[in-house]
Amino acid sequence: MRVEFSRSAVESLTVDALIVAVAEESAPALGLACDAAITELYQSGEFKGKAQDLAVLHQPQGLGARRIALTGFGKREALNTEGLRKAVGVAVRGLKGKAARRIAFLLSGDLQTPSNAAAVVEGALLGEYEPDSLRTDPTKGEKRIEQFTLCAPAASREIEEAFSRGMILGESQNLSRDLANEPSNILTPTELANRARVMAAEVALQAEVLDEDRMRQLGMGSLLGVSMGSTEPPALIVLRYQPAGASVAGVHLGLVGKGVTFDSGGISIKPADNMDKMKYDMCGAAGVIGAMRAIALLKPSIPVTGFCPAVENMVSGRAMRPGDIVKSLDGKTIEVLNTDAEGRLILNDALTYAQRLGCTHLVDAATLTGAIVVALGHLQTGAFSNNQEFLDRVLAAARSQGERMWPMPLDEDYKEYLKSAFADLANIGGRWGGAITAAYFLKEFADPTPWVHLDIAGTAYHEEAKPWMAKGPTGVGLRTFVELAFSWR
Ligand code: BES
Ligand code: ZN
Ligand code: ZN
Repeated sequence: MRVEFSRSAVESLTVDALIVAVAEESAPALGLACDAAITELYQSGEFKGKAQDLAVLHQPQGLGARRIALTGFGKREALNTEGLRKAVGVAVRGLKGKAARRIAFLLSGDLQTPSNAAAVVEGALLGEYEPDSLRTDPTKGEKRIEQFTLCAPAASREIEEAFSRGMILGESQNLSRDLANEPSNILTPTELANRARVMAAEVALQAEVLDEDRMRQLGMGSLLGVSMGSTEPPALIVLRYQPAGASVAGVHLGLVGKGVTFDSGGISIKPADNMDKMKYDMCGAAGVIGAMRAIALLKPSIPVTGFCPAVENMVSGRAMRPGDIVKSLDGKTIEVLNTDAEGRLILNDALTYAQRLGCTHLVDAATLTGAIVVALGHLQTGAFSNNQEFLDRVLAAARSQGERMWPMPLDEDYKEYLKSAFADLANIGGRWGGAITAAYFLKEFADPTPWVHLDIAGTAYHEEAKPWMAKGPTGVGLRTFVELAFSWR
């Protein structure tokens, strides 16, 4: 889908459909000749403007557009960028099935803010996306939207800039979703590294991939333990963004993403039901790779380095066993009581490596635990930290990007749960508080660097299609990462 910005008068747009986002209480006054028809639609009771309501009027009076599509965002006072992004997604997905090829969105009235402009473009790109690259008939009979125009006749320069930012963010998020959708037989750790390299070359990022030999030399015994059962070699992908000037206040942000290209559980094997979903166990890495693309294009003023440990967690005669003890890069020994708790075993080595490379602040994103889904469902990402000030900064970035994140506890005495009789740490903490013990395990390696851990197991993918987004990966975390990189000025 081509995306473009236009200051033309809305009446002159000759598109298949013009989308207008409307509130629940009363018909909008757009100042257009078709206002009366819209008011009639509200009065008829057919359309209420509730979130996810969509209505289409044909041949709207006074417009060059063939149709006007009203997409509801609910109560006006509750409107935020998340609601607007979804409302646009609902309209785009609805219109796709109604033979519209060229569509536009009217940004007018009090919707005219830079963050709304970005949200509209993001919503359109995210909504239009289909995970169909491996279908022989990709469109499944349904045609795609060819062109999306953001029509903002009275836009400021800030709004036009926000349009470009939204386009980069939406496209980068779709890159993450593409990576996550690839099945594990295609997207092996090696292939993930190749795709990251290709992306890096396109946007002039520095890319380096540590191979198995290099990791052994360095002493990443924990990461290598997980990888042992697979015939696919592991890779540690490192993507570097360096700003033109010196970093603000000496900050160097490290983004770390869990890249388990398939998680069978290993010898502590998972049940068969839903095991296919474990191709998504690299969504953290996908988010980091997508974020690094956006960062390279948008150019914040601090250095940012992305680290994606990529492995396949498999069962075989060479696989790590329950009871095995591995030694991490930072020297701690770990008793592996459950081989399915593998994410923390690859992230710890990446977190240590990131600190060795000079990162002053760390954020990791990982589909780490089923327990976080029990705690928060699919609506909130769990956020854990060893530093309140840094957590507040990350949560503020998330809020401004409409990514819901909920702070979770990490009291010192959770350490008890991770005691091992034979090693410095166990890799699991028993039945209770599973998301917290997983996070606490990582904290042992992140300390003393300010660090935030995002458990995205519940938010990284939709188990079913949503009216505003296709089934599968969401690209969660990416917008927060990018916003965070811009929070130091
Ligand atoms: N990748 C899984 C976590 C997961 C579960 C992600 C469901 C998405 C949806 C992770 O590696 C895992 O298996 N965790 C175990 C940890 C347990 C063995 C302590 C879990 O959550 O059951
Ligand atoms: Zn696992
Ligand atoms: Zn996993």
